Amino acid sequence: MPPFATSGQDFDKSGSSKSGSGKSGSDKPGSGPSLPRATFRFRCIGCGSLSESAAQDFRCSHCSNLLEITDPTWKSGSLNAAALKSLWRDRRSSRLPLDLSGVWRFRELLPTPQSEQPIITLREGNTPLYDLPQSSRITGVPRLFAKHQGMNPTGSFKDAGMTVAATFARQAGYRWVACASTGNTSASMAAYAARGGMRSLVLVPEGKISWSKLSQALDYGALTCQLRTDFDGCLRLLQELVRRAPIYQLNSINPFRLEGQKTLALELLEQLDWQTPDHIIVPGGNLGNSSAIGKALLEMLDLGLIPRLPKLSVIQAEGANALVRTLREAGGKHLVSVQAETRATAIRIGNPASWEKAVHVLQATGGACEQVSELEMAQAKAEIGAEGIGCEPASAVTLAGLKKLVARRFVKQDETVILVLTGNLLKDPDFTMEFHRGDLFQGAAREPENAKLDRFRHPPVVLDATLDAVIRTLEQAEKSDPPHPNV
Ligand code: F0G
Repeated sequence: MPPFATSGQDFDKSGSSKSGSGKSGSDKPGSGPSLPRATFRFRCIGCGSLSESAAQDFRCSHCSNLLEITDPTWKSGSLNAAALKSLWRDRRSSRLPLDLSGVWRFRELLPTPQSEQPIITLREGNTPLYDLPQSSRITGVPRLFAKHQGMNPTGSFKDAGMTVAATFARQAGYRWVACASTGNTSASMAAYAARGGMRSLVLVPEGKISWSKLSQALDYGALTCQLRTDFDGCLRLLQELVRRAPIYQLNSINPFRLEGQKTLALELLEQLDWQTPDHIIVPGGNLGNSSAIGKALLEMLDLGLIPRLPKLSVIQAEGANALVRTLREAGGKHLVSVQAETRATAIRIGNPASWEKAVHVLQATGGACEQVSELEMAQAKAEIGAEGIGCEPASAVTLAGLKKLVARRFVKQDETVILVLTGNLLKDPDFTMEFHRGDLFQGAAREPENAKLDRFRHPPVVLDATLDAVIRTLEQAEKSDPPHPNV
């Protein structure tokens, strides 16, 4: 029998494979930190049914909707908000591997793997919260901050979810993990699989992901397949694959991923001394991250960790605006999928898997959903770069979206606003180079609009290697550039 001829493998909440083969031979049990017993359940977001195990596609066996993780003990009064805050703060001075992770430091609100299993961690989380003085001036919002998830080990927010889901994959005995990706998930998955002694399979749309992200997957040893389709096509194929083969899927359909990604909100609130911001603004692609942040906010409110909810808003690229259209045209009742096209390849997704979860958290927090043009996004990316921070194109939709939310007075200028920057500047150097060289938006129709961005461009200057040439260039720059607004 070929090794991948099995089907229908389930795993229970302890993570143990129920019918599976493919036990990892490279596990190193015994060295793990001690964890409490698992108490969580899988809950269907459609019919609400609870189960102790989930099928490989993480869909409800009754109504096919997506599953989420819930833990009755979180609500039972056993967790005290003040005690949790002080426990999490104290762990910041601990040297235990579990506490050095900015994800597992908040483990009371995460599903816990079996205590004898070591976690797979790269010290994810612990990402900075920056002020944005220039963007504050541009938007007129003085209390504007960026939570930079691009400062994670593989350069994107995916690592926070991957440490949890990869740990459960290994606990379930899987030898192979897999994902469909626009690049960041594959980079993160490949890294955590390598750390955990598992093999990884990456399905990416051919020609539509950045070389930086692809090269990460290659270096971390993934089996990388560039499929002649888009992200949505890759994800469809993965869904079929996991039904046929004992491969554990690490897309954000996997609810363990979202549990890890919840910690972004926990860490953010801790950095704000538990003072609730008014708005959190996040880019939307497959809509796992917004769902995870929203779930965290609702749980924090339930537990008394925060007294009120911030509004969680999602920004999409105009060319990949499935959630915008789902809310505007269908009132959030059914998905309006689109044929996605945008230079922000990370969010080039037309059929987002977690749209229902995202609609729920948007409605529960009172957030908005906006779309921005390619030019608005490119300008915002340059503005974030000019702060000395930088981010990848998909992350910059947050600042571009904020400008629109301020213009329509959904965000008031005296409110506290957090932009979630999801990926590092180095993730998409082609976009950055093309922008600065003026090659990004070609075509006559775009010329006048494109020219508006000239003041943000800093193309490299090629010179003879003489002191004179450098000094002349310096003098020209001094004359033409206004003084730096931060000084
Ligand atoms: N920002 C970046 C940098 C991303 O890589 C992604 C998604 C998103 C935003 C959107 O997050 O999907 O949770 O709504 N990237 C996925 C990937 C799809 O495969 O790397 P989402």
